[in-house]
Amino acid sequence: MSAVNQDQSDYWNGEVGQRWAAHHHALDRAFAPFTEALFARAALKPGQRVLDIGCGAGETALIAARTLGSSGHVTAADLSQPLLDTARARAAQDLPGAAPVEWLRADAQEHDFGAAFDHALSRFGVMFFDDSIAAFRNIRRALVTGGRLTFLCWRPMDENDWVTVPRAAVLPLLPPVEPAAPDGPGPFRFAAREALLPILEAAGFRAVEHEPLDRTMLLGDTPEAAAEFAATRGPIARLLRESEPAVRQAALEIITALFAERFGSGPVRLGGACWLVSAGT
Ligand SMILES: C[S@@+](CC[C@H](N)C(=O)[O-])C[C@H]1O[C@@H](n2cnc3c(N)ncnc32)[C@H](O)[C@@H]1O
Repeated sequence: MSAVNQDQSDYWNGEVGQRWAAHHHALDRAFAPFTEALFARAALKPGQRVLDIGCGAGETALIAARTLGSSGHVTAADLSQPLLDTARARAAQDLPGAAPVEWLRADAQEHDFGAAFDHALSRFGVMFFDDSIAAFRNIRRALVTGGRLTFLCWRPMDENDWVTVPRAAVLPLLPPVEPAAPDGPGPFRFAAREALLPILEAAGFRAVEHEPLDRTMLLGDTPEAAAEFAATRGPIARLLRESEPAVRQAALEIITALFAERFGSGPVRLGGACWLVSAGT
């Protein structure tokens, strides 16, 4: 693997990647309403060849494989070894009749995938590139003429209650937090519609469509489970990753108490807001 995106590689191969891998069921459940919209828009057809970018623990690659059937093919690429290991283990138990999946540890920004794919898709895996134009150009090169790109990325943080509600509760525990650079890699890299459009066009994509998607996310069946979800994955985990264990524990307790106050002892559901983006070659 090359040295581009080294920080992201360290991040997704470290503690956070391991946590995502261990708790992928909760993530897949929370993201399920978005996943459904992604596949409805992608409208994959049996026999197609699909590239999953930043496939993580494999949920979308496996859905694609089942949709394509045995005549199709999925290449699922990610920087993270722990996530790929989990994905591979899930695939080993997967359904007969599904397309074969190649799990590939690769940087989507520069790996030569060959111009072989009918469709490239991603669930929240395209916002972490050092050089987004180079990355989308590389993804564009992986598509056949007439190929399609479909992906999900987050809208601004302040439209995502599943982030802002627990975040507001933990900020008082932390030293002042520098706002993230809007054009640096991170979950909100393409929150502004105008941040993405020129990048996709410079990368050679055409007829870009941007649809706002608002869905309720189930963060957990209890305040404890939901607080664990909120504090250990996603933007809050990024905030807390340099913190002492005692601060992380305090954050978990504060979020649990907040959710218990708001939702009682039952399931915790908060709003999520993302863009569903599709484009042609
Ligand atoms: C927010 S996670 C989403 C994972 C998965 N798509 C899901 O929805 O569960 C982002 C993923 O993108 C991967 N990733 C980040 N930068 C990448 C790159 N340059 N090439 C390939 N994968 C990358 C990370 O390792 C991580 O698995």
